[in-house]
Amino acid sequence: IFRQSSGAKTGEIPCRISHGSWESLPAQVASWVKAQIELCQPDSLHIIDGSISEEIRLKEQLVKAGVIIPLPKYENCFLTRTDPKDVARVESKTFISTPEKIETVPPTAEGINGTLGNWMAPEELDEKVKQKFPGCMRGRTMYMIPFSMGPVGGPLSKNGIELTDSCYVAISMSIMTRVGSRVMDCVRKSGEFVKCLHSVGKPLTPGQKDVMWPCNPEETMIAHRPHSSEIISFGSGYGGNSLLGKKCFALRIGSALARQQGWFAEHMLVMGLKKHDSEERRYVCAAFPSACGKTNLAMLNPTLPGYDVTCVGDDIAWLRFDNEGSLRAINPENGFFGVAPGTSDDSNPIAMQTIFKNTLFTNVAMTDDGGVWWEGMTEEAPAHLIDWLGQDWTPDSGKKAAHPNSRFCAPAENCPILDENWEDPQGVKIDAILFGGRRPEGVPLVSESLNWQHGVFMGAALKSEATAAAEHKGKMVMHDPFSMRPFFGYNFGHYLKHWLDMGAKHSATVPRIFMVNWFRKSSAGKFLWPGFGENVRVLDWIMRRCDGYEDIATKSPIGYIPTEESLNTEGLGNIDWAQLFSTPRDFWLDEVSELRQYFKQQVGYSLPQEIQSELDALEKRFNA
Ligand code: GTP
Ligand code: MN
Ligand code: MN
Repeated sequence: IFRQSSGAKTGEIPCRISHGSWESLPAQVASWVKAQIELCQPDSLHIIDGSISEEIRLKEQLVKAGVIIPLPKYENCFLTRTDPKDVARVESKTFISTPEKIETVPPTAEGINGTLGNWMAPEELDEKVKQKFPGCMRGRTMYMIPFSMGPVGGPLSKNGIELTDSCYVAISMSIMTRVGSRVMDCVRKSGEFVKCLHSVGKPLTPGQKDVMWPCNPEETMIAHRPHSSEIISFGSGYGGNSLLGKKCFALRIGSALARQQGWFAEHMLVMGLKKHDSEERRYVCAAFPSACGKTNLAMLNPTLPGYDVTCVGDDIAWLRFDNEGSLRAINPENGFFGVAPGTSDDSNPIAMQTIFKNTLFTNVAMTDDGGVWWEGMTEEAPAHLIDWLGQDWTPDSGKKAAHPNSRFCAPAENCPILDENWEDPQGVKIDAILFGGRRPEGVPLVSESLNWQHGVFMGAALKSEATAAAEHKGKMVMHDPFSMRPFFGYNFGHYLKHWLDMGAKHSATVPRIFMVNWFRKSSAGKFLWPGFGENVRVLDWIMRRCDGYEDIATKSPIGYIPTEESLNTEGLGNIDWAQLFSTPRDFWLDEVSELRQYFKQQVGYSLPQEIQSELDALEKRFNA
């Protein structure tokens, strides 16, 4: 039986309350917040209530301080420029802290650096917190943001409270998550919340003038304690490091909770697809590494007539098997934090209809008429811009106007194709799971796994060319298993075991699993597949497979591949079918030995035997 705890006591008010009421906080919230205030020593506390009037006032304040710039060309849109040293997630400074190292990362081979997460001992993290946080919010306001991942109060949803000294973070969180008093009511009832502490790490002395984008790159640290559901982020204001509901909570803490509680927290889009002549809408989720097309696919504008695509989410899915054994997904987020460059009326018209209202842009260029621009938005660049560094820019200045990882942060409700069930607290039923990455060579446009276990292997073997979403440079093909490599909240080997176990438990009802690759190139270096809206043709084939059509696929050594007539390529002109679908033996045998080495060096004895068997079986099929 739950016993309602009494609220906070007036006598305990730890600092000036600039907005909201201390006494209204549930006792367990108040005691945690009080401890953080004593640690960080902010000037005042602002308790976010989530009202429109509050949002307007905070934005006015940020505009006055020059932190956000109004964009008069659009309705309620703003631009922020970060410090040039704070433009992406910093994986090297991201840690998971557990008593035992093996809980967090698999054992690596001797002399090999692990790439599947960074572990930190709890005592070391305690030490780091003691070094970094005391007094770190001096001269600033602490914002307290009660937020819900998923529809407020829903059975698959979870609550968090973020404390931050960045008003930009507070504004962004109210776009990306559901925030405010109604969430606090939920926390009061359940008594449960993920504790999120964030500081830009730049205290102010009395009278000291603030910079536009305070941050502390040398001291940056993003740490997670899955055992106590705590997130501690210091030194960076960039979205992935500071909007703690997203990657930190919904993926890292989420995946650890998911394993304990028997569900999945994944870096996946969720979309609906309906053929006009069919009754039912089918839903798929897809895991592609950062900047590999999730937002594009989630907002697909189908080129084939008679198809209707809807968007549930573009980045994160929480999935759970229901009582009938169906896998159901919710989008825990409330907005889109999408890559801006490359987004255009041609590549993603739906995104273009989503992002010019109530949106916060980061590190894009500004046009002379108070709008925004980025590379790829229009074929020709405007004659003059203010670039992401705040400097004059002309097309011949020889540098990028927008940062390659510049982003839009827009509310989901703006999306014209938002699915009618996107906020169903029970989630939507998933029929197919897709994996995909940027593979210039060897990997066909689409293939279907032989079964769940083989599908889990496909996810484990996922690789992609590196992109700008993290600090990596260059065009290397890198491993990004399940597109979760930067986001695992626990040992990747245990994660694979969890996927295998859940599949075995629900073997009669599990979704089909597919591998897709929009990025295969010809020997001349051109994309073999037009991609974007044309990807509906691949989805159409996938849906027919889910309907049970057997004769549209042939078995290849890597899985089922479409027969030549089964994929609708009408009106596409010349498609080099042979190149697009070939599974070159030499390439795949190289792939097998590279994977064998990867698993050995990076996963060691944490690798489930089933995955090793799948690798052996793949090699055997090529040698048969
Ligand atoms: P995060 O939000 O960082 O997790 O990434 P994301 O997976 O949402 O990536 P996004 O949709 O923003 O992908 C952007 C990049 O993928 C752009 O460079 C697009 O041009 C490219 N892209 C997306 N879909 C396709 C496609 O079908 N074909 C090709 N060739 N490129 C694509
Ligand atoms: Mn992402
Ligand atoms: Mn995205």
